[in-house]
Amino acid sequence: MHKIYLDYAAATPLDSKVKEAMEPYLAEKFYNPSATYLAAKAVHGDIEEARGRVAHWFGARPSEIIFTAGGTEANNLAIQGVMQAFPGKQVIVSSIEHESVLAPARRYKSKEATVNPDGTIDLAALEKLITNQTVLLSIMYANNEIGTIQPIREISRLLQKIRKSRKADGNDLPIYLHTDAAQASQYLDLHAARLGADLITINGGKIYGPKQTGALYIKTGVKFQPQILGGGQERGARSGTENVAGAVGLAAALDLVQGRRHEEAERVRILRDQLMELVEASIPGVVINGSRVRRLPNNVHITIPGVDNERLLMALDDKGIMCAAGSACSASKEESSHVLRAIGKTDNQAYSSLRLSLGRMTKSADIIKAAEVLASLVE
Ligand SMILES: Cc1ncc(COP(=O)(O)O)c(C=O)c1O
Repeated sequence: MHKIYLDYAAATPLDSKVKEAMEPYLAEKFYNPSATYLAAKAVHGDIEEARGRVAHWFGARPSEIIFTAGGTEANNLAIQGVMQAFPGKQVIVSSIEHESVLAPARRYKSKEATVNPDGTIDLAALEKLITNQTVLLSIMYANNEIGTIQPIREISRLLQKIRKSRKADGNDLPIYLHTDAAQASQYLDLHAARLGADLITINGGKIYGPKQTGALYIKTGVKFQPQILGGGQERGARSGTENVAGAVGLAAALDLVQGRRHEEAERVRILRDQLMELVEASIPGVVINGSRVRRLPNNVHITIPGVDNERLLMALDDKGIMCAAGSACSASKEESSHVLRAIGKTDNQAYSSLRLSLGRMTKSADIIKAAEVLASLVE
C-alpha cells in the first residue's frame, strides 16, 4: 500500500545531504572538540563553522548561537535561563504555546495572554498584561497545531515602546522577546533584527535534520543563567561534550530549508489550499481552524462535527494515511488540546479535530487521495 505521510509538523525525515554531512563526525572525525591535538582542533573548527552557518540565517554573530538537544531544551533555556537571572520578575506567554514554553513559565511569576478565535495573539490584551515587572515575553512564531503565524514584528514594536517609557521612568529592567520558531523555521524569515526578537528557538527534527538537535539564538547582552552546568562548553551556556554531528546536521538542514524557503512555501501552499478546498467540498459541516491568512503554508487543521478523531486516525492509518489529532506531544494525553480550548473550541469539538501537515514529499496526488479517503470514512 502506498503510504501518505501528512504529519510533518511532528517529524521530518532526515535529508540525505544532511546525513552525508553528518556521517564523518559519527566515525572518523569522532574527536572531542576540546582536545588539544590537531585532528580535534579541526573538529572544533567544524562545529564553529556550523555555528556560523546557523548564525547567518538569524543575521547574528556566531557567539549568539547556542546548540541544544532540540526545541524543548532551547525553550527551557530561554524561559528558565532569563527568569533565573531576574528573580521575582514576570514572564508572559501566549495561551497556545508549546508545553515546553508553558511548563517552564509556570515555575515563575507568569501570565498567559489570550488569543483571538483564529489563534492570533490579542495585542491589546497582551499590552494590558505587561507590568513594570515583566522581563520576558515568549510568543511562538507559528503554532504547531493550528498553524497560525503570530505578528512577532508588531509585538517587538510594542516592546520598543515599553522600553522607551521604562527609560523615561528610570526603570532599568529589560524586557526581552523570545519566539519559538520550531514550526516556522523552514518557511519564514528568521532574521532576528527584522523580527525584533532577542531569543529564538529552532529545532532540527522539524527541518529534515536530526532529532534532538536545535539551537537558541540569544542576542548579545541578554542576561540569562545557564541550565546545564559542567565543563563550560558553548561558552559556558550549555555544558557537555558537543554533539558535533548534530550541530553540523542542524546547520546543513537549516541551509537547505532556508535556501529554498520561498519556492517550497509556495509549492506546499498550493497543495494546502487544494486540500482545504477538497475537504470543504466533500465533508458537510467541516470547519477549518486557525487563520486563513496568517497560516503556515503546510498546515491544515479541521474539525469534523460528531467524529471521534482517535477512531478516525486509526481508520486513516489502516488506509495508509498518517496524520495527527493534535500535536504529537499532547496526543497521548487524556485532556483535550489547550490550543483548541484557547481558541474557543469545546472538548467535543477538540476530540473531533485533525491536523494534516504537509511537507517535502507531499504531492498533489497524495492530497487528492487523502481527501477522498477522509470523506469516505466520515460519510
Ligand atoms: C512549536 C514547538 N516547540 C517546541 C517543540 C519541541 O521540540 P522537541 O520535542 O523536538 O524538543 C515542538 C515539537 O513538536 C514544537 O512544535
